[in-house]
Amino acid sequence: MVAADLSPWGSTGRSAAGASILLKNVEKIYGGPTGGLRAIAPLTAELRAGQAVSIVGPSGCGKSTLMRLIAGLDAPSRGEILIGNVPVTGPVPDIGIVFQRDLLLEWRKVLGNVLLPAEIKGLPDMEARARELLKEFDVEAFADAYPWQLSGGMRQRVAIARALLTRPALLFLDEPFSALDALTRDQMNVLLQHVQTTEGVTTLLITHSIMEAIFCADRVLVMSGRPGAIIDDIRVPFERPRRLALRETAEFTAIGRRIREHFEKAGVLVG
Ligand SMILES: Nc1ncnc2c1ncn2[C@@H]1O[C@H](COP(=O)(O)OP(=O)(O)O)[C@@H](O)[C@H]1O
Ligand SMILES: [Mg+2]
Repeated sequence: MVAADLSPWGSTGRSAAGASILLKNVEKIYGGPTGGLRAIAPLTAELRAGQAVSIVGPSGCGKSTLMRLIAGLDAPSRGEILIGNVPVTGPVPDIGIVFQRDLLLEWRKVLGNVLLPAEIKGLPDMEARARELLKEFDVEAFADAYPWQLSGGMRQRVAIARALLTRPALLFLDEPFSALDALTRDQMNVLLQHVQTTEGVTTLLITHSIMEAIFCADRVLVMSGRPGAIIDDIRVPFERPRRLALRETAEFTAIGRRIREHFEKAGVLVG
């Protein structure tokens, strides 16, 4: 059997409904399993295919570590991670990742940046798909511009378009909007919850904004201080598409209060 046959995403590189993620007693200790720094306490969770999950937790509690482990960029010290029932043993290919810094290549035009994943993977021409995404993200007029000509919000939209180009089963975002101003951030939240619906990707969003965590997710996982464990698992029941005014409803603010209380009890700030 060739390696490709083992892929949960099949030869097209994608399962239409995203991929499920299973974490079984996952633990991470930096510097070896006997000593060192315990970043993640034994953690068990299942993220369903197509689900949009947000993670909030105190600064340094292991959120980015957890994301790296699921993406196969680092290995857990103990426990197991499965994506679409296949154990993660190395970098997961079918995943789009967006960080706080957009990491656009300054010498490439916007279209060239969005097309990069296809070039790296040696996929056939995806220019139509790239242009379609730029249009959806309202930056198609800048396809031939260079990243430095764009605002921070536009750059981040390009970064998300690039992450989605090859229709990955998973979309991971690690504090993607933290460097943006409040209004732009609101726009990005609306865009992200729209994209989650249209693209059907399983989404994992790390954020220190409780409001953003709720607005963009079907489910919010609350993590404790280090070593990070999941201390609450909250279902977010609101239908999509969502409008920003949703955040002012009693049901929304009640979820926010529930999350905030965890951190107040622990005497920590989210970050
Ligand atoms: N590569 C590494 N080597 C050693 N310690 C690390 C490494 N990466 C992160 N850490 C430590 O692990 C803990 C969790 O880090 P991180 O996952 O970045 O937290 P968060 O994203 O929640 O702020 C922190 O104490 C951090 O200093
Ligand atoms: Mg982090």
